[in-house]
Amino acid sequence: METPTLFICLYIICLSVFGLSTAADTLSSGQSMKDGEKLVSTGQSFELGFFSPGNSKNRYFGMWYKISPETVVWVPNRDKPLTDSHGFLTFSHDGDLVLVNQSKSVVWSSNLSRVVKNPVAQLLDTGNLVLRENSSLNCDDYRWQRFDHPSDTLLPGMKLGWDVKIGFERCLTSWKSKDDPFPWRLYFQVEH
Ligand SMILES: *[C@@H]1O[C@H](CO)[C@@H](O)[C@H](O)[C@H]1NC(C)=O
Ligand SMILES: *[C@@H]1O[C@H](CO)[C@@H](O)[C@H](O)[C@H]1NC(C)=O
Ligand SMILES: *[C@@H]1O[C@H](CO)[C@@H](O)[C@H](O)[C@H]1NC(C)=O
Repeated sequence: METPTLFICLYIICLSVFGLSTAADTLSSGQSMKDGEKLVSTGQSFELGFFSPGNSKNRYFGMWYKISPETVVWVPNRDKPLTDSHGFLTFSHDGDLVLVNQSKSVVWSSNLSRVVKNPVAQLLDTGNLVLRENSSLNCDDYRWQRFDHPSDTLLPGMKLGWDVKIGFERCLTSWKSKDDPFPWRLYFQVEH
């Protein structure tokens, strides 16, 4: 092997090793996640980050299958796109997970009913994104979970319909078009 080729190979190996070791599945209080950064679930099933669907120039926050990034399963800001790539995800003072735009306006919030002092958000391999207190890291004591907020995709473990505990109805709504995840048609609602 010639020297330049060897160096390129080493470089690629370093990049992939470095990339793997830095891809975290959690965001802790005090941290933020910029456009271009990602969370990856431990089993490498799902990724969470910023994207532009189809031919759109808008930026959305979302979750997709790692092996198939075009298969987006969740978009929290589907009706409030970011117009540039200066948005970021972080925690508010109350421990809410918030998506913030360049002028520091909150575009989307997990809207918790109680304050969480030391929040940790973790992307699970099921496609759930859960928020809990740092002190209850290994419990299922979620203060918020994205499974309560479906977009247009039902994953195993998610439930639809009215829920007394969370106080609202979960339903699936289609995207307006492949370039726009705006909630368009209600296409799955549980009959009462
Ligand atoms: C939880 O809090 C401890 C003490 O503040 C800190 O060392 C640790 O990194 C935190 N863990 C996470 C996942 O944020
Ligand atoms: C951020 O959001 C606020 C409120 O929606 C809006 O008024 C402002 O123009 C946005 N800023 C940018 C840079 O998009
Ligand atoms: C936030 O939660 C409160 C109740 O906990 C609810 O009344 C309000 O509509 C929610 N806001 C959003 C934007 O979902």
